[in-house]
Amino acid sequence: MFEKTAHRLPKVGARRDDWWRGAVIYQIYPRSFLDSNGDGVGDLPGITSRLDYVAALGVDVIWISPFMISPMKDYGYDVADYCDVDPIFGTLDDFDRLLARAHELGLRVIIDFVASHTSNEHGWFKESRQSRNNPKADWYVWADPKPDGSPPNNWLAVFGGPAWEWEPRRGQYYLHNFLKEQPDLNFHNPEVIAALLDQAEFWLRRGVDGFRLDAIDFGVHDPRLRDNPPRPRDNNLPLNGPATSPHAMQYQLWNKARPELADLFFKPLHALTERYGGRMLLGEISGDRALERMAEYSAGGGLDIAYSFDLLTCAPTPAAIREIVEAVERVLDQGWACWAFCNHDVTRAVTRFAGGGPVTPRLRALLPILLCSLRGTPCLYQGEELGLEEAELAFEQLKDPYGLAFWPEYKGRDGCRTPMPWSATSVHAGFTSGEPWLPVPASHLPLAVDAQERDPGAPLHMIRDFLAWRRTERPLVRGAIRFLDVAHPVLAFERSDGERTLLCVFNLGTLPAELEVGRGVLRRHAPGVTLHAGDARLPEHGWLFIERNGEARR
Ligand code: BGC
Ligand code: MG
Repeated sequence: MFEKTAHRLPKVGARRDDWWRGAVIYQIYPRSFLDSNGDGVGDLPGITSRLDYVAALGVDVIWISPFMISPMKDYGYDVADYCDVDPIFGTLDDFDRLLARAHELGLRVIIDFVASHTSNEHGWFKESRQSRNNPKADWYVWADPKPDGSPPNNWLAVFGGPAWEWEPRRGQYYLHNFLKEQPDLNFHNPEVIAALLDQAEFWLRRGVDGFRLDAIDFGVHDPRLRDNPPRPRDNNLPLNGPATSPHAMQYQLWNKARPELADLFFKPLHALTERYGGRMLLGEISGDRALERMAEYSAGGGLDIAYSFDLLTCAPTPAAIREIVEAVERVLDQGWACWAFCNHDVTRAVTRFAGGGPVTPRLRALLPILLCSLRGTPCLYQGEELGLEEAELAFEQLKDPYGLAFWPEYKGRDGCRTPMPWSATSVHAGFTSGEPWLPVPASHLPLAVDAQERDPGAPLHMIRDFLAWRRTERPLVRGAIRFLDVAHPVLAFERSDGERTLLCVFNLGTLPAELEVGRGVLRRHAPGVTLHAGDARLPEHGWLFIERNGEARR
């Protein structure tokens, strides 16, 4: 019904205040951070009570996963009312207090904006599903069945099964790229965009510093609903999910990363945030054409930062990290990338990088330090500063619908969503006085915050010290990056701001590594690192930073 929008809006200009370039983000998954009222689920007052801890880590921004009204089929990523807080997490007043306290501590706050789909319990959908001619009839993606009654095309949902669900009231199918309880909004309808901008403005007025735009590349679909082509099995797509998922057997050519997205949504949203000043937009961009899209959207397309999936799912090798970062750097132009090793959707990084071997204390510190040394905006996930590994859960303990659908081949996302361990000696690690919604694994207790606070050699101290130093080092915050050819399993690159150059070296292996690094001053290093006459020795999972004194060398 709505015409495809051609590219016609001009590129957006640079923001006056680009504080987000090189800032460090800390992601909080509210269900699992801290429970203040004993119901077993983390909440906003819980977050507020630990903001001092977060600020003391030396991060600049917190991103809070969804806490809006939700039936919680996808644990908050199914929003039934964008402009209110779900009672399980607290109230709007609680949010205002959280925001005020964060700002007092110098922390910016961005929140998840799940704009691509709503919950099926959202008032918009309840109205839309009633008939083919109600005022919101075209707010979602409705389509007639094929003559044989089957869905309109072959699109598949990420969480399994077809991306279409039958609605008897209308005698039509509706599109859902995730659960059937997450119907996709129709971004080709200008009323939908206007309504979404209103939801965003509600939070901008309250004072949030920006949004993380969830699964936003699913926002726009092909109005002609063309079939997706099959994907060859050997395609090495970075996967967040089961390798044999039918979804991975298609290119999401027509229901994802459509070129119209920037004009239809990012640019209008950008213009809105400009009216408020000092805000930023971070868009989650994944899938086949993620690299081009990251560049297109963040270099004038309306996004400030493109959140990449690649390091969340990459092979745990220096070569893979280098390849991904270089590939993004090649296309990025004036755009900007956000890098993460961990979030609420993927296996915790120390488990991935240990590759089946033991997780060493050194590895727990190395990965966050490496992440925060790359060019871009790094995003740490709660517990990453403690070096938490993936929790092993039994089928009976699972909550995530993705894991429940694909068990046992894929165990879902609960293993990275278990509660933060605050205290090694308290029941449920001090997360709740009640029964936690997911268990705290016993292996996380020795890694609890209070235990690490008492141990000067713990990852928590190393990461804090590093972040305190990093914020004073311009080459690390905004400098260019250039990788060096060194032998596996070492990763080495230089960060340079034009005046000063820092050589950054990481041994990703479980044996010591030796490396000729040339002249320079050792600025920061892991315990056990030595440097003599230009030769560095790094213990297993060791790292170092050397200041070049202006001498660039290969
Ligand atoms: C979020 C997931 C969520 C999905 C659907 C993602 O990219 O990070 O947690 O299940 O979007 O909203
Ligand atoms: Mg609670």
